[in-house]
Amino acid sequence: MKIKPARFLEGKLILPGDKSISHRAALLSAMATGDVRVENFATSADCASTLSCLKGLGVEIYKENSTVFVKGVGKKGFQKPPTALDCGNSGTTMRLLSGILAGQNFDSVLTGDESLSRRPMKRIIAPLELMGAKIDAENGCAPLKIRGVNPLKAISYDLPVASAQVKSCVLLAGLNANGKTSISSEPTRDHTERMLRWFGVDVEENGGTISVSGDAILTARDLQIPSDISSAAFFLVAAGCLKDSEIVLANVGLNPTRAAILEVLRKFGAEIEVFDARETCNEPTGNLRVSGKANLQPKTNSNIIGGEIIANLIDEIPILAVFGTQIEGGLEIRDAAELRVKESDRIKAVVENLRRMNAQVEEFADGFRVEKSDLKGAPVDSFGDHRIAMSFAVAALFAKGETEIKGAESAGVSFPEFFDILQKIARG
Ligand code: S3P
Repeated sequence: MKIKPARFLEGKLILPGDKSISHRAALLSAMATGDVRVENFATSADCASTLSCLKGLGVEIYKENSTVFVKGVGKKGFQKPPTALDCGNSGTTMRLLSGILAGQNFDSVLTGDESLSRRPMKRIIAPLELMGAKIDAENGCAPLKIRGVNPLKAISYDLPVASAQVKSCVLLAGLNANGKTSISSEPTRDHTERMLRWFGVDVEENGGTISVSGDAILTARDLQIPSDISSAAFFLVAAGCLKDSEIVLANVGLNPTRAAILEVLRKFGAEIEVFDARETCNEPTGNLRVSGKANLQPKTNSNIIGGEIIANLIDEIPILAVFGTQIEGGLEIRDAAELRVKESDRIKAVVENLRRMNAQVEEFADGFRVEKSDLKGAPVDSFGDHRIAMSFAVAALFAKGETEIKGAESAGVSFPEFFDILQKIARG
């Protein structure tokens, strides 16, 4: 994929449904009693992996454009899959589904692509084994052979990493346990808790501890998914930094555990307005208007981002790295070592690509520092990672000369329409 620089962005966009929420919509609807109609289901390849795994477990699912119909089978109603379930590139599919499968009375095998087969799974194996399931893995990685039991043992568990995937895995297993399962963790995205409540489950929250009861029942109820703020982030940065841009993004998910990107972009001088804020199926949503400015000036003394906020913008850090090249004083990211075990080593990937584009960057074990830089078009690599591909397409808009992105098709993992939309709204 070759991308030329742009002068500004212009247009009104309705982006596809949120990936994180769509995974949960499919999984929780399958665990519910009754039928669920899900509108604006994500178009991402990752969410298609979740649907195909559920079909392999005997769940009836129909799809019509972006509307998905799921016939719930109840918490224990899944069927032993005839073959291994392929989670593709999707960590969310593998980790959340493991929580459900641990509490079924049959064995199942979860596989993934090369990238997913390198990602750490001990973080879910440990709590699920404490609950009584048995899981065989290869050096803590997929393929996972899960020997489920029902009921599982309820546990109280302190999460060693701030991970919504692990938290959700244990919560879903807790729905098939004999008592109350509690998880204590740093704040992470709370879509699972919100959607369980939407389906009538009592989710207790006490300080940083979240609990569910094994006798909870999920009652089917239709869902509408807001647009994905992590997909919106690429256009927020592109339009925010290109003078004369004016874009509107409608119906974007603004859950506070996901929306920290807005706070950061504004803090560093981007002009983003939220209007028509509302709630859709327990999820805060709203419309965003971005007005581009040249030479963004930070409204803060510190150009370092680290600590608790990192979990709330973990997927936006690659595009923040690109943003850092456009702001006075640059940007430093810390406490983000988790980036090294995402779809690629995202610290290494952004550092290498930014250097190829003439940016001045320093790499740390838990992050990086990027200086304000004049970017130059260059050959860059997605490293097979969707968010790296899209981040460097935005970098290409800011650069002098053309940029070629190797493996740009990986964008389809979360946002297949990305390059078409970019072409429509970018003005050269
Ligand atoms: C996700 C949680 C995050 C995020 C991933 C999606 C989710 O991962 O990076 O893209 O849907 O729960 P961790 O929970 O492992 O940090």
